[in-house]
Amino acid sequence: MTLHVEGLAKRYGDATVFADVSLDVAPGEFVAIVGESGVGKSTLLNCMAGLDHWDAGRIVHDGTDIGALDAEACALWRRSHVGFVFQAFHVLPHLDVAQNVALPLMLLKQRDDARVARMLEVVGLAGFGARLPQQLSGGQLQRVAIARALVHRPALLLADEPTGNLDPTTAAKVMDVLLAQTREHGASLVLVTHSETAAARADRVLHLRADGIGE
Ligand SMILES: Nc1ncnc2c1ncn2[C@@H]1O[C@H](COP(=O)(O)OP(=O)(O)OP(=O)(O)O)[C@@H](O)[C@H]1O
Ligand SMILES: [Mg+2]
Repeated sequence: MTLHVEGLAKRYGDATVFADVSLDVAPGEFVAIVGESGVGKSTLLNCMAGLDHWDAGRIVHDGTDIGALDAEACALWRRSHVGFVFQAFHVLPHLDVAQNVALPLMLLKQRDDARVARMLEVVGLAGFGARLPQQLSGGQLQRVAIARALVHRPALLLADEPTGNLDPTTAAKVMDVLLAQTREHGASLVLVTHSETAAARADRVLHLRADGIGE
């Protein structure tokens, strides 16, 4: 999908997180966003998903101005178009691994156990479906979060530090999965990362700073 961000600004009271962020992502494009800790990368990604509010500017996905949607319409839009890998996983502790991964499909009333099993295999977690999140390592949880973000084949994948908790070998594998899955379905990928190795694989790298964003 095409993503258009125009003049975006986010403040908490008097404190400006970022001002005047404008960027475009083309269908199928992979854009990495880098920047120092606290500069607002997670906040920007949350805004792109309509999970957070902003103070000025517009975000338009394939012609849909998500700032103009009410909360329910935005949630419905997000459900079918966006996959999100949170920096802090947000895996649900009382659901097993397969149920966590199946969640986006359940919400869309498109239950598909075979696809869930395939996603688990793709992220190297075949056989882990019946485990509870507390029985997994940090890197395994991260891969559950990635499988869940991809299972419904979203046109836009937003990933916040998806390799942040992984050893270099697993991180490379996870990046392979993210790239292969997004390329296979022509999805756009916006990746926030501190990893130069991960950013190097992007079509474009954007640097977020307090006064805007640029190459
Ligand atoms: N509820 C809040 N109230 C006030 N300030 C906040 C709030 N939430 C976040 N911030 C501030 O907004 C800024 C941006 O936070 P954000 O999490 O987007 O940074 P980040 O670039 O993702 O950092 P990191 O690389 O450490 O994940 C930070 O300076 C943070 O302290
Ligand atoms: Mg962050």
